[in-house]
Amino acid sequence: MILGRSRSAASLPLAALPRPAARQPGDATALAAAPGIASADNTAAGTMAPAAIAPGTAAPDTTAPGAVAAGTVNAGTGATGRRAAEAPLLECQALRCELGPVARPVRVLHGIDLRLAPRRALGIVGESGAGKSMLIKTVMGLQPAGARVGGRVVLGGTDLGALREDRRRALLGRRVGMVFQNPMTSLNPFVRVGQQMEEASRFHRGLNRAEARALAISLLRIVGIPDAEACHRQYPHQFSGGMKQRIMIATALACEPELLIADEATTALDVTVQREILDLLGRLQAERHMSMILVTHNLGIVAGRTDEVLVLYAGRVVEHGPTEAVFRRPRHRYTEALLAAMPRLDQPAHARLRTIPGQPPNLVNPPAGCPFAPRCPAAEARCHREMPPETSEPTSDGVAHRFSCWVPVDRAAAPVLAEALP
Ligand SMILES: Nc1ncnc2c1ncn2[C@@H]1O[C@H](COP(=O)(O)OP(=O)(O)O)[C@@H](O)[C@H]1O
Ligand code: SF4
Ligand SMILES: [Mg+2]
Repeated sequence: MILGRSRSAASLPLAALPRPAARQPGDATALAAAPGIASADNTAAGTMAPAAIAPGTAAPDTTAPGAVAAGTVNAGTGATGRRAAEAPLLECQALRCELGPVARPVRVLHGIDLRLAPRRALGIVGESGAGKSMLIKTVMGLQPAGARVGGRVVLGGTDLGALREDRRRALLGRRVGMVFQNPMTSLNPFVRVGQQMEEASRFHRGLNRAEARALAISLLRIVGIPDAEACHRQYPHQFSGGMKQRIMIATALACEPELLIADEATTALDVTVQREILDLLGRLQAERHMSMILVTHNLGIVAGRTDEVLVLYAGRVVEHGPTEAVFRRPRHRYTEALLAAMPRLDQPAHARLRTIPGQPPNLVNPPAGCPFAPRCPAAEARCHREMPPETSEPTSDGVAHRFSCWVPVDRAAAPVLAEALP
């Protein structure tokens, strides 16, 4: 696997990337919106199908041994000043998702645990096919029709699985905004930009036409659209990719979300625009006291822009912790390999990019033990037989550094990216 060959904004050394802005915990009363999360065509039967897996009742993943706590979690504030120990805005507990026939399931998510505190930024990283988008879709209830989902998703203290479908959608629509990779799949090419933006605020916030129009124009200005009034009357095809993505971000903000999720939102953009959009997302997150999830296959994007990072492999969380801790001292061998494969500006231009040999496992017949074992240079015999337990180490950030590896990277080993860290 090759993590991007171009020298993009996302491939800058960490020191060159902006750090999350420090700010005081504000009264994030945002109430908001998920315009971009159009309808999912899942039927109730489809989303919670066959008896074996139902939210909150499914048996835990039997291949995963219990957690081995190496210490208690420090409840302080992180380096950015954002408290990790507050009651979470979003929590996933043992979230699972299966696709395909029951007799031959494709297990795309295996018992994902995740807590995101208000105003924190989380990066979700992993190779293509790791399950990043399925995790977001499952949280949002947008998983493919027929998917079997288990575990719990709790948003702002409300268990989404306990809500009626229409109430769940309304809650997510008000409180979560989404920006996807390709704005053309989210923007209707036949409908004026302004009208599309207004729909969300009128539906979720009950604004009248004039209020919604004024809000849409002000949001277009906030995201840097030069002539917002003219843009409001135009169609999506009249804008460049970067401008369309700005429009999507403005649309996602229309209901003042508490959580903004960007799934590969800059992947299709060129280098300079990518950086502008990432900077815009970071600025808006800070100004609006939102939580944010940045989903990407590119670790360079989350460096310096997120408080914590979660590494997915074959539908499992293999490592999670404060971004700085994970980047400085990765403990899982997969994270170590991902970091080593990251293109860097401080390497000679002709240097060969490192890759991770082999392919992620087949999700229908995954290996019995650690899913990374067939590609891992440190694998031992037990790695191929047994799933490693989760180890949790306290950090000063308030979020534990957790990882699942039988032979973790030595904490005393030289940091993979030492020379590039701030
Ligand atoms: N609609 C679908 N039907 C069957 N398999 C799917 C579907 N969507 C995704 N998958 C599978 O789920 C896995 C995770 O996909 P995805 O979450 O899109 O990966 P990522 O976003 O990390 O690139 C992949 O193996 C993919 O092939
Ligand atoms: S558990 Fe074993 S195979 Fe898996 S990453 Fe760790 S050392 Fe490698
Ligand atoms: Mg994806």
